[in-house]
Amino acid sequence: MRQALERLEYRGYDSVGQATISDNKLILKKDKGKISEVHAKINLDDMPGSIGIAHTRWATHGAPSKENAHPHTDCDGCIAVIHNGIIENFMELRKELEDSGHSFESRTDTEAIAHLIEEAVKKGSSLPGAVIDTMRKLKGAFAIAVLSSHDPQRIVCARRESPLVIGIGEHAVYCASDVPAFLPLTNKAIWLEEDEVASLELGKVEIRALRTGEAVKRAPVDVTWTREAAEKSGYTHFMLKEIHEQPQAIRNALRTQRIYHDLVASKLDSAEAVYLIGCGTAYHACLAGSYSLAKLAGLRCQAVIASEFNHVHADLLNRNSVVVAMSQSGETADTLNAVRQSREKGASIIGVANVMGSTLTRLSDVYIGQNSGPEIGVAATKTFTAQVSVLTKLAIILAERRRTIGPEQAAHHLEKLAEVPDAVADVLQKHENKVKDIARRYKDRRSFCFLGRGISEVTAIEGRLKLLEIAYVPSLAYAAGESKHGFIAIVEPGYPVVFVAPKDETHSKIIGNIMEMKARGADVVSVIEEGDDQVRSISDDVIEMPKDIPSVMTPLIYVVPLQLLAYNIAVEKGHDPDRPRNLAKSVTVE
Ligand code: AGP
Repeated sequence: MRQALERLEYRGYDSVGQATISDNKLILKKDKGKISEVHAKINLDDMPGSIGIAHTRWATHGAPSKENAHPHTDCDGCIAVIHNGIIENFMELRKELEDSGHSFESRTDTEAIAHLIEEAVKKGSSLPGAVIDTMRKLKGAFAIAVLSSHDPQRIVCARRESPLVIGIGEHAVYCASDVPAFLPLTNKAIWLEEDEVASLELGKVEIRALRTGEAVKRAPVDVTWTREAAEKSGYTHFMLKEIHEQPQAIRNALRTQRIYHDLVASKLDSAEAVYLIGCGTAYHACLAGSYSLAKLAGLRCQAVIASEFNHVHADLLNRNSVVVAMSQSGETADTLNAVRQSREKGASIIGVANVMGSTLTRLSDVYIGQNSGPEIGVAATKTFTAQVSVLTKLAIILAERRRTIGPEQAAHHLEKLAEVPDAVADVLQKHENKVKDIARRYKDRRSFCFLGRGISEVTAIEGRLKLLEIAYVPSLAYAAGESKHGFIAIVEPGYPVVFVAPKDETHSKIIGNIMEMKARGADVVSVIEEGDDQVRSISDDVIEMPKDIPSVMTPLIYVVPLQLLAYNIAVEKGHDPDRPRNLAKSVTVE
């Protein structure tokens, strides 16, 4: 099991655990740390039994610790559960279970699953039946595997949204979050579909659909990927895989418990001054957030580059100041430095991070986990859209609290936000090849400029950073209106200008800016709303986005073609988009 886990470590690596059954007893070993560290401490290979489950964790609920490591068990230590995903209603479920006498050991969402299965088994259900009952109570995303000393020859696994695949070996059967876990042992795989549960016994796999309860027959397919390709789920690079993971990453970012948003909204509401700080792409998420907080909730707030913060703003801070610090790694030195200085001044720190247990989460008074899962590619993609999703939801909740929008409008905005993951999936499905073609034709251009107005200036700036950092093309980005005051001097025939031009309140003005560029012979690529013939007629290339996206949400969707443009130009130029030169995934030096 340990070797299988090591092949999945790219998916999560903050704590690890295994459970086996021997002599009808459940054996459990788990601890905080990477697999090699935990193995060195407690020898994960020294576990009796020929049936077991194992987990390497990427914390979403409950910081990395031994108690929060998986597997989680029931009150009697007979049932063990491992889980990948987020259970949205775990707090309600936990309360019900605690009120009926269950005792919990961890702060995770997952542990509620073990106790729910315990309840069903105590009421006479078989293990598969108990898992089905439990799935019906769960809201959110999950891939789970369950082991029980009451049924020692069987593993039951099930999924909703989170991936789960079964491996059919000659003398063994496996289930895993992804193929690399068992690929060296067998390449015969069966992917579980949405809301399916499978019972695994040696030589016997039974799959059932949750909705109908009916048995599902599905033949294994032969996986031809190499291990490296499998880790990338068949994509050529982690960056492309992570661009395609954005629908799920945004869904997960929006799953953070409402109480955290309400808590943060109350702090922002009563603050004298609010700053949003971060570096690189995280700073761009701050820019988008400051726009939505001002536009929707009427909050005066400022996005500031973290490395500049102490030079300019730190002296203005006091106990009534709030600093929102964004960092996917939670370890960026410039951001942490600004946070430490702000704490010294008595300011409240609100952290938004992807890595639970990171320094930023420990320095924050309150933190929101963005739940994007590990991001391997150095260029931030899914963590950007996840961060902007968290801040957009926060802006809507604060706006309702401040009554700058009514409850219906707030509900409408939250509904539109919940539709963004499908809109992103739609853009990826419909327009990836179009962007690839544009990248092929523009790959030799020596410079680009990205222009946008309002919140689209942020999308333009983020698009520029992606092209710069992975394709090494010197590029500019501006608020489109500002382009007349300098940039336009370098525009000559064939100079590529990329416009981010949604049909929002800036639309009529951006048309003028496009005309100015065309008048100087620029090649114009415009990211527009579907059916926007006005901008199409004055652009050389267009990439169409879904209709009726509220302007504060456009960065979440309109950034996707810019990520793909940078990725494809980098590939066309023969660069490795995952490991761009001179850059690190987390910059831990000042
Ligand atoms: C973005 O693609 C870069 N990797 C970089 O600018 C990054 O956003 C920045 O270093 C901040 O990282 P953080 O979110 O981990 O703090």
